[in-house]
Amino acid sequence: MNLQMAIPSALHQLASLIWIGGMFFAHFAVRPTLAGTLDPEPRLRVALGVFQRFFPWVWAAIVLLWLSGLWIFLAILGGKAALYVHAMMGLALVMSLIFVGLYALPFRRMRSAVAAGEWLRAAAAFRWIRGLMLINLTLGLVTVLIAAGGPFLIPA
Ligand code: HEM
Repeated sequence: MNLQMAIPSALHQLASLIWIGGMFFAHFAVRPTLAGTLDPEPRLRVALGVFQRFFPWVWAAIVLLWLSGLWIFLAILGGKAALYVHAMMGLALVMSLIFVGLYALPFRRMRSAVAAGEWLRAAAAFRWIRGLMLINLTLGLVTVLIAAGGPFLIPA
């Protein structure tokens, strides 16, 4: 392993850790705590605040994942890689598109609904965000398993 591989590889790991670890924490720690302790109105306000603070990091992580991944794939591997790398890219593409859709639709809807005090609309948007984040969390964990275990199963 040389520096040319070490830098993008480290950035790649950092980005996936921030995105997937953040979703894991949101789903398994924040969500059940909010559901068990707060009434719907403050719960939706806190949930929105959590999303507003976490999502800029997700954007940064997605950009970093693609830049570092493409850097390794194109500049180091010369555009040729084993099946598990293509699986990683495919899953990452689906995850990225889900996040863009989640941000553009239910997240923006939830933001405007909370600002207007329309709690039913905010709750419906929140359910969509929660469901889409769970799908992305599952895909993200599968991607890590494939990416980390792939090299030992399928030779590059
Ligand atoms: C959520 C998305 C992603 C996750 C969780 C993920 C995770 C990983 C992991 C765990 C590794 C192995 C680390 C290592 O050997 O140092 C890896 C390597 C790699 N990833 Fe990703 N990755 C993601 C997205 C992407 C994307 C979008 C690309 C796009 C081009 C990509 C391209 C690569 C390449 C080329 C390698 C190196 C493979 C090799 O050494 O043969 N990854 N990734």
